[in-house]
Amino acid sequence: MSLPEFTEPIVNYLQKKAPAKLEAAVILGSGLGGFADEIQNPQIIPYSDIPGMPHSSVKGHAGELILGEINGKQMMAFSGRFHHYEGFSFEETATPVYIAHALGAQKLIISNAAGAINTSFSVGDLMVIEGVIRNNLSISPRGYSRHRYLHHKWVDKVRSLAADLELVTQQGTYMYVTGPNYETKAEIRSFRKMGADAVGMSTAPELFEAARLELKSVAISLISNMASGVTKGKLNHDEVKAAADSRKEDFAKLVSTLIEQL
Ligand code: 6GU
Repeated sequence: MSLPEFTEPIVNYLQKKAPAKLEAAVILGSGLGGFADEIQNPQIIPYSDIPGMPHSSVKGHAGELILGEINGKQMMAFSGRFHHYEGFSFEETATPVYIAHALGAQKLIISNAAGAINTSFSVGDLMVIEGVIRNNLSISPRGYSRHRYLHHKWVDKVRSLAADLELVTQQGTYMYVTGPNYETKAEIRSFRKMGADAVGMSTAPELFEAARLELKSVAISLISNMASGVTKGKLNHDEVKAAADSRKEDFAKLVSTLIEQL
């Protein structure tokens, strides 16, 4: 399956560094970069060292690729991702997916920080994504069907592996928006009517491209805040960080288990 041309120097460079058998790739969302500390025998490659690699500018995104192991399984983690609102094309936002595919990763675990639309969710909840609604996202070839972008058996499996770790998870539909601004209350109300449970500005391009490349993936949202109008008060980036900090360890446990057992 062909990859966008811009990935060629990136893949050439990384092919010399990556292990022969790569079990999993992980994309770390806002504030979830701490998972990188769990990686054994880490080889840290700043994005700026990788020829042709886009650079990210958002606070809390370190911008590095970590190659290493989780309990003996070879894996790679992308700490720092690319958002369309930073000026990256939709294809560029999927760069980690192209890399993971080219280096032979067997599965992809995507995480993000998202705002809750579902009023029964709380800040700090982990939501396994079971559906995606895209708003204004144009990626993949014309006419390409998105009917299999999520692996439904994996949604149940992730939730049961989480339960084994005594972690309660939610399950829901992720609304993708391009941002960079947060939504109006009216938008959130309308998204709720459309069936969305959480909203965010990442993950959908990555999921769709992973599906096209037949790279099996799961995606997990950390609910970092309630969306506009769900509760009173303004939204800010510090809140996102605090929520991530509070679930850092649980998130790390879950992702480690998924790398091993999914
Ligand atoms: Cl409320 N909206 C969007 N678009 N992205 C978010 C969010 C809300 N909370 C975290 N990420």
